[in-house]
Amino acid sequence: MDTVETQSHLTTIQQNDPRLRRHVAVDVAVIGAGCVGLTTAACLAHLGHRVRCSDIDAERVARLAAGELDFVEEGLDQLVQEHVALGSLSFGRDNAWAVGNAEFTFLCLPTPETPDGRPDLVEHVVTEIGPHLVQDSILVTRSTVPVGSTEVIQRLLGRPDVAVVSNPEFLREGAAVEDFLQPHRVVIGSDDEGAAMRLASIFSPLSAPLIITDPRTAEMTKYAANAFLATKVSFVNAIAALCDVVGADIRQVTRGLGLDPRIGPAFLTPGPGWGGPCLAKDIASLVRTAEGAGVDFSLLREAVAINEKQVGRVVDKVLHLAGGSIAERRVAMWGVTFKAGTSDRRHSPAVELAARFANLGASVSVYDPTLGSSLSGMHTAADPYAACDGAAVLVVATEWPEFQTLDFDKVGMLMKRRCVVDARNLLDPVAMKRAGFAYEGIGIP
Ligand code: UGA
Repeated sequence: MDTVETQSHLTTIQQNDPRLRRHVAVDVAVIGAGCVGLTTAACLAHLGHRVRCSDIDAERVARLAAGELDFVEEGLDQLVQEHVALGSLSFGRDNAWAVGNAEFTFLCLPTPETPDGRPDLVEHVVTEIGPHLVQDSILVTRSTVPVGSTEVIQRLLGRPDVAVVSNPEFLREGAAVEDFLQPHRVVIGSDDEGAAMRLASIFSPLSAPLIITDPRTAEMTKYAANAFLATKVSFVNAIAALCDVVGADIRQVTRGLGLDPRIGPAFLTPGPGWGGPCLAKDIASLVRTAEGAGVDFSLLREAVAINEKQVGRVVDKVLHLAGGSIAERRVAMWGVTFKAGTSDRRHSPAVELAARFANLGASVSVYDPTLGSSLSGMHTAADPYAACDGAAVLVVATEWPEFQTLDFDKVGMLMKRRCVVDARNLLDPVAMKRAGFAYEGIGIP
């Protein structure tokens, strides 16, 4: 760890602070083998710990035990295979087995939206594993849980010897291993400084600022980060909409914006709207928290409203290029996942786009490099060219880099009309026009 900031004094503590225990290999349990859980498990094994990971999905567990993943995540399959072979990472279905000898148990469970915002599944599992937790061990809430949950879980657990500590994850799908091993910060929330320092030592080989604070602040930090990221994208999508009308170029605007270090260049690419399993859920949860606290967080509601309009803006561009209607015509769509680098289609704007095209009477033909099986209601093409066969319009819905280097003459020859709506500003508009395409990006004159 580089430095440690504690909430009470905001002092900087050096790596050799006696409160930080020397890095030693420990037994760790990880409950949940989704993207967050599996990345946590494999990366902790990589840091030298002995990890048991449990998941209720029998098929997933069987595949993981053989070193196979059921989703795409850069670098994770190699780490899993390596540590399964070394015996430092093992998988099972039984949570009691996983926690049986663990000094640290990480809860990495999905926290779907519930009407009252309670982390139902987390609470259910806490009750189940409570009696099996090792004396004086630490239970870590890594799932994104509503502010105050760590305290609720501590009460629910009924084990005064076990400290419940918040340690929110900041892992992007598609870059989760990198984000774990090269984090921008590690946040630990606990009222028990000894427990916080014990957890900190697990991450001590990582070079990152460590923030030790109370549980509510740690939980809020995670929500604030995701809400800020979503708001940043909504902001840039709103500026891009304006660029479309006034004839400015969003690519140059965002370059000018991003060079200001107070703004930064990341998360300034306009697109079909933010998606995925986390941002929408977390913003909804934060809005609910604000409402419950009597705070009017209208900025966040507006960020959501802008996002909800964004898919419609892409549809309008398609209708415009198609001359007003896509009924009885073929729309080719490249990309189905909510972003590149993942096989995740949850809350994907691309899926929403395809549904809207189908509702407008189009036959939709999709290609995505991660699409193994066919999608209901859509024709699934074997390659990006096949998706364009007979299409009136091509829509680039996900920013897979391989789409940039295709043979656009071949694409054009397969299509009925050379029209492309580039919802990710992925292609080169000049090259596309040279290839005879009518091109519409987002915020590009
Ligand atoms: C997000 C956060 O980035 C992670 O830090 C966090 O840990 C994670 O949620 C989580 O809570 O688990 P993720 O959902 O994997 O990660 O996706 P992002 O990379 O944040 O992208 C979210 C959406 O915004 C995608 O649909 C993406 O295409 C879109 N986006 C992103 C843009 O449209 N433009 C941009 O410039 C950046």
